[in-house]
Amino acid sequence: MSEKIRVLLNEEEVDQKIREIGERISKDYEGKSVHLICVLKGGVFFTCELAKRITVPVSMDFMSVSSYGDDTSSSGVIKIVKDLDESIEGKDVLIVEDIIDSGRTLSHLMEMLKQRNPKSMRLCTLLDKPERRVKDVKVDYVCFNIPDEFVVGYGLDYAQKYRNLPYIGVVEL
Ligand code: IMP
Ligand code: MG
Repeated sequence: MSEKIRVLLNEEEVDQKIREIGERISKDYEGKSVHLICVLKGGVFFTCELAKRITVPVSMDFMSVSSYGDDTSSSGVIKIVKDLDESIEGKDVLIVEDIIDSGRTLSHLMEMLKQRNPKSMRLCTLLDKPERRVKDVKVDYVCFNIPDEFVVGYGLDYAQKYRNLPYIGVVEL
């Protein structure tokens, strides 16, 4: 099978927006440290770029949850594939996600992490598809709202491919 990729957000636009969000986060967390929780694998490129633009002290941890198979629709099943290495108790936690689609993954994840008593918990996403929302989640920082199209690049995959594209593209089958 071969797919065509149409550019939706180019590298410059993405990098510029991440800078802006990094600046906002740095202001909002002034005088504090921020504990970034990267949601693997999709969040990894965004987390690294964002972390470089945050000027308050940053610590990082990684978590992997599964909600999707190798197709383009949600299974609705969520399980922890890799848990955090460290406790988040008393920390100012910022969850960093690649995309919020139905919201199922994040609403489940946030419920679970709240029980571990962080001092605060916010959510930052590179992309949001508000039209697709099934579960209500409060997103504190959004880089881009996008239409209901399947996208790849900057960490996002289609059947594990295209994560390494330095831009966001739409898969055209
Ligand atoms: P949700 O639980 O439906 O919000 O699913 C969120 C997860 O689905 C994301 O973290 C991605 O892994 C995946 N996902 C949703 N939409 C896309 C897309 O357009 N491209 C690639 N992955 C997607
Ligand atoms: Mg994800």
